[in-house]
This record gives sequence, structure tokens and C-alpha cells, in this order.
Amino acid sequence: MEVIVLDDAQAVAQKGAGLIAGLLNSKPAAVLGLATGRTPLAMYHRLVELYKERRVSFADATTFNLDEYLGIDAHNPQSYRSYMDREFFHHINIKLANTHLPACAERENPRHVGPRYEAMIRDAGGVDLQVLGIGQNGHIGFNEPGSSLGSRTRVKTLAERTLKDNSQAFEKGEFQPKLAITMGIATICDARKILILATGKHKSQAVAATVEGPVTAWCPASILQMHESVALLVDQEAASQLKNRDYYALACRENEALHQRFGQFLEDV
Ligand code: PGA
Repeated sequence: MEVIVLDDAQAVAQKGAGLIAGLLNSKPAAVLGLATGRTPLAMYHRLVELYKERRVSFADATTFNLDEYLGIDAHNPQSYRSYMDREFFHHINIKLANTHLPACAERENPRHVGPRYEAMIRDAGGVDLQVLGIGQNGHIGFNEPGSSLGSRTRVKTLAERTLKDNSQAFEKGEFQPKLAITMGIATICDARKILILATGKHKSQAVAATVEGPVTAWCPASILQMHESVALLVDQEAASQLKNRDYYALACRENEALHQRFGQFLEDV
């Protein structure tokens, strides 16, 4: 895992957007795995700027989001479809038909969504780059602690901690779904490259468990230690409980020299 500690959340957004734009410049028909939540927002906004500056095009890109709530429809402003349209897709030149979320149609059996989504990802050639946030409890997607490390896209019940963390997005008395359909941990690990973002002190424990803890279903993000190509972008606060920080900083400096000569994890724009 390449641990890249940056000054602040803005630098994380900037770097993340640069890497995604770099991928699209080298592979215009790339398949992106995308995440929702507070963390990637600034990165999406930076990508919109890059698009407006004509430094990236999404015309041939395909996207698969990690998860979608079960029990609210796509038009509900709380759905992740609405989030993605509002914050990102409606401001770039992506074809909406090429953007996918594991949404369950009305009256559809939610258990049928997962296998269908897996097949769609496979048919698209697999995910080139998966963007992830980390929950305070170490979840990735809605794979809550205890999720099978071999899991595939399926229905999950959200943990109390997740419901509490996400409740800020809901008005008092507004319906907050307790179920979601999420890519599984094995689905996520099939991506060729993974880019995880974490910012803020409240993420520091989960970041330390992800990078330096044991590989365990108790911290689903720790499985990423087994993946061959992961970059973790963190700000100083999210990195504050990492024991090996000096080493990561040293490795970043050394890698920088190598990157300049031979290319990197992904080329920045
Ligand atoms: P957040 O969520 O970006 O809103 O903190 C991250 C996550 O739950 O994966």
C-alpha cells in the first residue's frame, strides 16, 4: 500500500482528482468505481473544474458506484444516484447511461440486484480504478465490520455506528434507510487499482487499523493490505495515529524520484 500523507483535505482532493484525470487521459474508456459520502465531494468538484478547463474528458468513461440505499427511489434527494448526479455527473460530459449504481427497482427482489451488478461489472471489463472512503468503523462501501472478506454485491444491514455517522445528512423525522446494496469486499478487491481517501481526525483510528492493524473482517478496509495496487491519500489529521509515518514520508520522497523517471501508480494530470 502506498501511503501518501498530504497537508490537508484540499490537497487530498486535488491529488485524487489529478490521478483520476491522469487515468482517463491515458485510458479514455476507463471503468471507474466511485464512492459517495462527504470525503470524495471536494475531489468530484475538482474533477468538474478539470473538465471545464478541458484537462479531462469523461465521454467514454463508465462508472460503477459502490452502493445504493434500499427503500428510497432514485429521485429521492437522499439516494446516492441523486448525490452522484447533483455533485458530479450533471457537471461533466459523461453519458448517464454509462453510470451505474446497484439500485433495486420497485417490486424487484433486492437479492437479484447483486448478481446482476457483478455481471455488468464483468461485462464492462472490470473496474480499472476503485475510489473508496473509509467509515469510522473501518467499513468500505457498506461492508460493515464482520462482513465476509469474500463477499460479493448484496444487501447489507447498516451498523448502528454508520447510521449515526450518516444521520447528519437526514432531517429530523426524515426516513433514513437501514439497508443498502453494496459491492462486496471481494468485488472491491477485483479492481485493478484502488484509491482510498480519508480526511479528518475522526478517521485516524480507522486509517491506522487499515494500514497497520491485522487483516481482519473486524476492519474490512484492512483487506486492502492484500491488494497489489493501493494508494491511500490522507491528510495530517487522518494520518495522526499511524505509527510508521516517518517511513511513509521517506518512501514518498524516494518514490517521487522513481516516478519522475519511470512513471507512477497513476500519472497525475
Ligand atoms: P464519509 O463516509 O466520507 O461521509 O466519512 C465514508 C464511508 O462511510 O465510507
